[in-house]
Amino acid sequence: MTRIVAFNGSPKGSKSRTQILVEAFLEGARSAGADTETVFLAEKSILPCEECMGCRLPAGRGKCARKDDGHDLLEKALDADYVLLATPLIMDSMSALTKTFLERWFPLVDPRFQARHGQGTFAARTVRVPDWIILSTCSFPEQFHFQAMSTIFHDLSRTFGNRVAAEIYRGEADLFGRLGKMSHPEAIEPYMDLLRSAGREIVRNGSLCTDTAEALDRPLIPFDRYVEEGNAAWDRILEGTCRIDEHP
Ligand SMILES: Cc1cc2nc3c(=O)[nH]c(=O)nc-3n(C[C@H](O)[C@H](O)[C@H](O)COP(=O)(O)O)c2cc1C
Repeated sequence: MTRIVAFNGSPKGSKSRTQILVEAFLEGARSAGADTETVFLAEKSILPCEECMGCRLPAGRGKCARKDDGHDLLEKALDADYVLLATPLIMDSMSALTKTFLERWFPLVDPRFQARHGQGTFAARTVRVPDWIILSTCSFPEQFHFQAMSTIFHDLSRTFGNRVAAEIYRGEADLFGRLGKMSHPEAIEPYMDLLRSAGREIVRNGSLCTDTAEALDRPLIPFDRYVEEGNAAWDRILEGTCRIDEHP
C-alpha cells in the first residue's frame, strides 16, 4: 500500500488554509488505496541544525544530537513512499518551519563531495529518500511567485537523490478565505476535484497527468477581479465595516 505522509509547515497548524488543499489531495490518494497521515510541524519541537557534524561521525551513527522531535519526524518521513511538503509561501520562500524541518535531513547525506556529470558537486546519499510532493499556497494572484521556491526544492532533491514527483502551487489563496470561509465556490469546487484527481494519479501513476497539472496551474478567477475584490474587502476591514474573519 502506498503511504503518503504530509508535513504541514504553516505556523497556523491545523488552521492552515494550505491544509484545505492537502486534505482534498489526500482524500483522492486514499480513494486510490493509499494510507495517509498529516503532521503539523507547528505542534512539534524542531530545532535548527547546528552543524555540529556529530551525525556524520561513526559515533553519531547518523543521528542528530538535538533532543526534540526532529529525529522521530525524519524517521517517519523515511518510512513513507511519498513525503508531501505543504507550506505557505512566506517571503517568497518556504515557511521557516518547513525549512527547519528540512535542515534536519542533513544526516541523510554523506559529507564527501560527489561530482556528477561535470555539472557540479552534490553530497553523496546514504539512504533512499522518498519522493516529494510539494503543495503551497500564496496570497498574490500569479503563479510565478513560487518560482524561487520551486528551484530550491529541485536543487535539494538533487542532493537527496529523490524526485519531485509533483508540484502544486496555488496563488489567489485568499479565495480559500480565513477560518474556512470560501468565496467563489464555482471556481473552488472544480479545483478541489482536480486536487482529488491529483491524489489518485500520484498513487496510480507516480506522477500527475499533464492535463491535471496544467489545469491545477490555471487562475481560479481573473487577475483583475481577484485584485479588485481583495482590495475592496481590505478597504472595508480598514474602515471598520467588516471584520477580518469575514474577509474575503
Ligand atoms: C509573514 C508572511 C509572509 C508572507 N509572504 C508572502 C509572499 O511572499 N507572497 C505571497 O503571495 N503571500 C505571502 N504570504 C501570504 C501566505 O502565503 C498565504 O496567506 C497562505 O495562503 C497562508 O497559508 P496557511 O494558512 O497555510 O499558512 C505571507 C504571509 C505571511 C504571514
